[in-house]
Amino acid sequence: MNNNIINSSNHGLSQAQLDAHWMPFTGNRDFKKDPRIIVSAQGNYYTDADGKKIFDGLSGLWTCGAGHARQEITDAIAKQAATLDYSPAFQFGHTKSFELAHQITELMPEGLNRVFFTGSGSESVETALKIARGYWRKRGQAGKTRFIGRSKGYHGVNYGGISVGGLSPNRALFGQGIEACHLPHTLLDENKFTQGMPTKGAYLAEELEQLVALHDASTIAAVIVEPLAGSAGVIPPPVGYLKRLREICDKHDILLIFDEVITAFGRMGSNTGAAEFDVIPDIMTVAKQLTNGVIPMGAVISKQVIYDTYMEKAGPEYMLELPHGYTYSAHPIACAAALASLNILAKEELPKRVKTIAPYFQETLHSLQGIKHVNDIRNYGLAGALSIDHAPGEPAKRPYEIAMKMWQKGFYVRYGGDTIQLGLPFTSTLREIDSLMNALGETINEIN
Ligand SMILES: Cc1ncc(COP(=O)(O)O)c(C=O)c1O
Repeated sequence: MNNNIINSSNHGLSQAQLDAHWMPFTGNRDFKKDPRIIVSAQGNYYTDADGKKIFDGLSGLWTCGAGHARQEITDAIAKQAATLDYSPAFQFGHTKSFELAHQITELMPEGLNRVFFTGSGSESVETALKIARGYWRKRGQAGKTRFIGRSKGYHGVNYGGISVGGLSPNRALFGQGIEACHLPHTLLDENKFTQGMPTKGAYLAEELEQLVALHDASTIAAVIVEPLAGSAGVIPPPVGYLKRLREICDKHDILLIFDEVITAFGRMGSNTGAAEFDVIPDIMTVAKQLTNGVIPMGAVISKQVIYDTYMEKAGPEYMLELPHGYTYSAHPIACAAALASLNILAKEELPKRVKTIAPYFQETLHSLQGIKHVNDIRNYGLAGALSIDHAPGEPAKRPYEIAMKMWQKGFYVRYGGDTIQLGLPFTSTLREIDSLMNALGETINEIN
């Protein structure tokens, strides 16, 4: 337990109010003893209930790369709410969803041109898995139902997502999932402290051949991976690894799904991870940065052949082709926010800006090598992570302590497992990067 946290007494919440909210992915008991309450956000900073400014070192939850409270987005939401606040998602349409779908396809790699809207990353993953299974069934290969995920993968929290995901704490409590097996992760000791993509590890893609040999391609619907694993602590793909996965999927007629909920729309220095790593999946899932985090929204982008298969094998034209969708699919306010957000991304050339400042981020982040407890550092684009030596029996304790101390000093960083994760706003200045890294180095040195 960290006893040094300054008590945030100005939040005005009663104990009953604090108790009422069962918070997600949070140590509720600890938090409610000493709540960290954020009251506003502007640019790259939050303000907490004590009036302290805090640099947003994870862009919210990898969501707000363009910075907070962007006027263009705020205006678009207000206008949309006053014009058309909700429109039935099924059987009727509104213009913004079509405009947005088209705009998204312009940012996609060649061939990904059909967009299905969801309300979150988790919903995007479930949707992608269902689209993949349905696609094979419609093509007369109903036996292709198995999914192959990857150890340390994170694909949200619904049953499909945790089944293909590879983070054991997220799976252990919840019993039977869906039919899935896993590739090994690519976090290799021999790649420790690599800057950017590691050169070793492409051979791990060959494990897919082993899984195909074991289960037979006739039972496998799709492989799903994050091009860069984010939530497990920023694991960039080894050079050649994703290409090899693509080749093996092609060879065996297995769909390849890239979960780009973190990597799409700028964070890698390109519009998508697929573009950055030069490998095109059959289906891509996105969310987060799509609306700059302002409003929940996700999307699944498919190759046309998948969409066409659904259209061709659906009976009379008035019949729906895909019995799937959410009340909030293509919500008009989310569409307005996403259009404004993507406009900012384009107008300010934010992916290019990420590419420009990424080398400085990389250099300063890796300057933390050699500090006690830091046993690995990884990065790509404006995503980075440090692995921290485990305190005896408590792998997550030091990262927690580091993150809490950083908060006190005015920096928000994420702790997850045995890692500290950084996902800086695309609008970060070099000076802000310096301050963050200085504070992080100092803080790690301070803990036992
Ligand atoms: C790769 C990936 N997929 C899916 C998700 C789930 O997204 P959400 O929390 O919006 O459901 C996340 C969230 O971090 C993610 O990183």
